[in-house]
Amino acid sequence: VWSVDKKMDKEKEYPQITQASLWIKKNEVVAFPTETVYGLGGNALSDEAIEKIFQAKGRPSDNPLIVHIASTEQLEGIVSSIPERAKKLMDAFWPGPLTLVLPKGEDVAGRVTAGLSTVAVRMPDHPVAMKLIKECGLPLAAPSANVSGRPSPTTAQHVYEDLKGRIPGILDGGATGVGVESTVVDCTAETLVILRPGGVTKEQLEEAAGETSMDPGLLNEKEAPKSPGMKYTHYAPDAPLYLVDGSPAFLQELMDKQKEAGRKIGVLTSEENASFYQADTIIPCGSREKLESVAHHLYDALRAFNESDVDIIYGEVFPKKGVGAAIMNRLEKSAGGRIIKE
Ligand code: TXA
Ligand code: MG
Repeated sequence: VWSVDKKMDKEKEYPQITQASLWIKKNEVVAFPTETVYGLGGNALSDEAIEKIFQAKGRPSDNPLIVHIASTEQLEGIVSSIPERAKKLMDAFWPGPLTLVLPKGEDVAGRVTAGLSTVAVRMPDHPVAMKLIKECGLPLAAPSANVSGRPSPTTAQHVYEDLKGRIPGILDGGATGVGVESTVVDCTAETLVILRPGGVTKEQLEEAAGETSMDPGLLNEKEAPKSPGMKYTHYAPDAPLYLVDGSPAFLQELMDKQKEAGRKIGVLTSEENASFYQADTIIPCGSREKLESVAHHLYDALRAFNESDVDIIYGEVFPKKGVGAAIMNRLEKSAGGRIIKE
């Protein structure tokens, strides 16, 4: 683990970052912080490097990766064209938590896109990530730096838990800010389509670049999602999670029944309701009044249940407005679709 202070001086040399970039240039893979979650980066032009990413994560090879760049000049060879709407989005949100799906260019390693004719690209808003990309002079293909299926890592410690012994190093830039992954937007269709809700909201996208819709696969279980990654089980704690769409009193009743049956219970709650519950493990996860704080704490909270020996977890639901859409998308996946309505 190589620590770098996030408040770094962009002009200075950082031996930790140089070290990481040397590994990347040798087609090895290293973990690094972004503003959303930690990524596991490798040379996006090398199939050998990409193979190592899939290996380290245990990721299904039909799930394509996001290519991270530090300047729009790097798009040359990575994408083959940039529609006007995509340019508007780049101007408005890069660097930032927005990934654009564009027609694939010739230089991208075939394994990055899992054979698709499109490629996902983003410019991360994190000084360590930006410096790493600049220093190795290569676009970095990077999925979240977790073992496939586990919650995404928002600290270097999370990455260490999942990937120690499997990769040469982790750049530690402290806890990430946004806490959930970038919004993925398809820019190759008639209008913009959100394939994965994230840090940039639908409302913000519409304001910057016009009509934007949600991929029907996100809203309706019967439709296949367009983003290959959205079909897998994800973000799951060890114990089964049940989301409860109802009052705290109803949620407590459910827990009481389980307790009578001798089970150990965990509850994932907003700060506002935390003192209401009686359970073996109570993990608060941000405030309902500030959904950004829920996003920021979400994955750490989900991982924290693995430290306790609960048999079953009940979780509150949040409004799907703004970043709430991303929070609920991830929670529904962690719960494998198990939702109990009052
Ligand atoms: O915030 C993030 O996006 C983080 C940080 C590290 O940048 N990365 C991340 O990567 O979340 P990953 O691999 O965990 O998720 C990438 C998502 C997947 O759902 C994948 O299916 C989708 O992007 N994706 C990648 N390329 C695509 C493409 N060409 N068309 C549609 N979806 C694509
Ligand atoms: Mg991921």
